Amino acid sequence: MHKISTAKDNFINATILEAFKNGQVVALTGAGISEESGIPTFRGENGLWSRYDPQLYAYPEGLLSVLRNDPDKIVDYLDDLYSILFRAKPNPAHLVLARMEKDKILKCVITQNIDNLHQDAGSDKVLELHGNAFRLRCDNCSKAYRLEKDNLSHIIEQLRKGKGSRQAILKALSRFFPRCDCKDRLRIDIVLFGELLPSGVLEESYREMEHCSLLVLIGTSGVVYPAASLPFYAKDRGIKILEINSVSSNLSAICDFQLLGKAGEILPQLVKQLN
Ligand code: OAD
Repeated sequence: MHKISTAKDNFINATILEAFKNGQVVALTGAGISEESGIPTFRGENGLWSRYDPQLYAYPEGLLSVLRNDPDKIVDYLDDLYSILFRAKPNPAHLVLARMEKDKILKCVITQNIDNLHQDAGSDKVLELHGNAFRLRCDNCSKAYRLEKDNLSHIIEQLRKGKGSRQAILKALSRFFPRCDCKDRLRIDIVLFGELLPSGVLEESYREMEHCSLLVLIGTSGVVYPAASLPFYAKDRGIKILEINSVSSNLSAICDFQLLGKAGEILPQLVKQLN
């Protein structure tokens, strides 16, 4: 691997620039790209999973048991999660990727994030592997519904007020998760641990990668599968891989290039040198 530079060096190797100019690029993003937007990553010291036990909060059965045993905790979790998501705005890394798509350098973004920040930044082709926290979906008929921020803040407020009363919380939750047209109860359109990815999205991600010139991994630890299998698929097809991460990850060993530093600093430098 060519271990090239850190953001401070303000220098990006000619080979990387060549790979960008060579054709179209696909980006695979993880929580690290949104860290500079104020959204904590999952792993690491201040990661979400250090505050919320993933056995309880990342699995459907865990969430149901918290709801049964201590519904106030579900309120705290939703309140915490959506307060962070409401405040977050796209940072330079999201904006640069959107610009690259407009300039036809980038084919698409494949993201593990549920925060909608790529779309907020102006990216059109975003393949969401783990869903989107601003959508509800029906597991029965697959219909999806947009969650409007105003409506959502109102329901979160109702949930907060209902703390201490199981009945009030359940009432607010039934407003949060209304019934679909097919009468089944809706849920947030995110993938929990042990659940299948949204139908077709992984296949489409493989297809997008097949003809790309470079796969850029941005801010992902590469420990969650099947998302982490995408770089191996690219590697098998001889596609070059560039990693942008603040530290080395589980995927560093298979990367051809690595830029260590904050994505929001590295990507603007990179695009500047492409022009
Ligand atoms: P992780 O929290 O596992 O990893 C975040 C990565 O971003 C780490 O490798 C950090 O070093 C890096 N990082 C942090 N800040 C950065 C910055 N400013 N610039 C560049 N890199 C930075 O997040 P993911 O890899 O996205 O899944 O996690 C994958 C999946 O695990 C998530 O989608 C979620 C989680 O459990 C589900 O919930 C299904």
